[in-house]
Amino acid sequence: MKTIHVDTGNPYDIHIERGIINRCGSIIRELSGAQKVTVITDSNVAPHYQWCVLNSLSEAGFTATSHVFQAGEQSKNLSTIAEMYNTLADFKMTRKDIIVALGGGVTGDMAGFAAATYLRGIDFVQIPTSLLAQVDSSVGGKTGVDIAQGKNLVGAFYQPKAVLIDPDTLSTLPDKFICDGMAEVIKYGCIKDKDFFDSLAKGNALENIEDVIERCVTIKRDVVSRDEREAGERILLNFGHTLGHAIEKLYNFNGITHGMAVAIGMVLITTAGEKNGITPRGTADKIAEVCRTYGLPTSDEASLVEIAKAAQTDKKTSGSDINLVLLNEIGSSFTQKVELEKLYDFISKN
Ligand SMILES: NC(=O)c1ccc[n+]([C@@H]2O[C@H](COP(=O)([O-])OP(=O)(O)OC[C@H]3O[C@@H](n4cnc5c(N)ncnc54)[C@H](O)[C@@H]3O)[C@@H](O)[C@H]2O)c1
Repeated sequence: MKTIHVDTGNPYDIHIERGIINRCGSIIRELSGAQKVTVITDSNVAPHYQWCVLNSLSEAGFTATSHVFQAGEQSKNLSTIAEMYNTLADFKMTRKDIIVALGGGVTGDMAGFAAATYLRGIDFVQIPTSLLAQVDSSVGGKTGVDIAQGKNLVGAFYQPKAVLIDPDTLSTLPDKFICDGMAEVIKYGCIKDKDFFDSLAKGNALENIEDVIERCVTIKRDVVSRDEREAGERILLNFGHTLGHAIEKLYNFNGITHGMAVAIGMVLITTAGEKNGITPRGTADKIAEVCRTYGLPTSDEASLVEIAKAAQTDKKTSGSDINLVLLNEIGSSFTQKVELEKLYDFISKN
């Protein structure tokens, strides 16, 4: 088992081990004197993993139940959270009891938000089952939901008691979500670790997935430990996301996945970095090549005018500037404020 300690306000461990899901009960027992556990999971994950988690929890002496919601980003809203509260209250969960988030990023974000708010906060453990959740969303304590005005606009910073990562669960994850997660994996190499990026370029990341997950989680741990609430360095984790998010918006979050949009966003912003004399020429091509190796697109039909406009009107953009994440070179990144009105000029410079 690989263990990575996260030293945030409420410290916790991340454990990575094949098959760990089958013994999650005894690990959670060591962390919690809870009597009851509610496992929150979605309709795609439940058939594969719900029973082994519930069995392991009851073998460890917990009284456990589950709450299954309809899989997908469209469920990531306050009415799904309200249904979770109903289950927690009907099951008479107390402040000493614990929630297990079993699933991808949607499950982790929502179960974490339910844990942060039910009875003003109860413990929760993440068992992430998508690649994106294993390398990114389960670590760092961002929880929340979407509202009509935009994605992730309501939420809380709330750290789990532990994160249990079982790479074997990726065997049932559809290929398109593996690609999606790989965009975040590539992002870590770009912003923090050239050697890691070079190793991804060999194309065999999935054969060494435990090491890949460990490297990504360690990078994220280091960043969030220094900047838990995204006041500075944590913004680097948004590399490729500002333009990526704008592209997702142009598609109405339909027909393009988050990872595909981030891959295109990383290439576009790095191309802009090159044109503005910040990033060495050829860097965007290298990123594009690695993205293609893992089945990700690197360009889109949308024009830079449309992309800039969508980024400028993003609900999360406040004030007159936008924070862009740029590369000095692969493995070294920084943020630069650009006036919102000049975003198009910046990304379209010749
Ligand atoms: N909290 C954070 O720091 C953070 C960071 C990045 C992304 N996010 C959020 O994460 C979400 C995206 O995460 P995601 O891509 O995991 O989405 P997701 O949770 O919807 O999972 C993707 C799909 O895979 C299915 N699935 C997951 N694990 C499976 C498995 N092992 N076997 C079979 N099917 C499985 C899910 O049911 C779903 O259909 C977004 O809502 C995003 O906002 C949060």
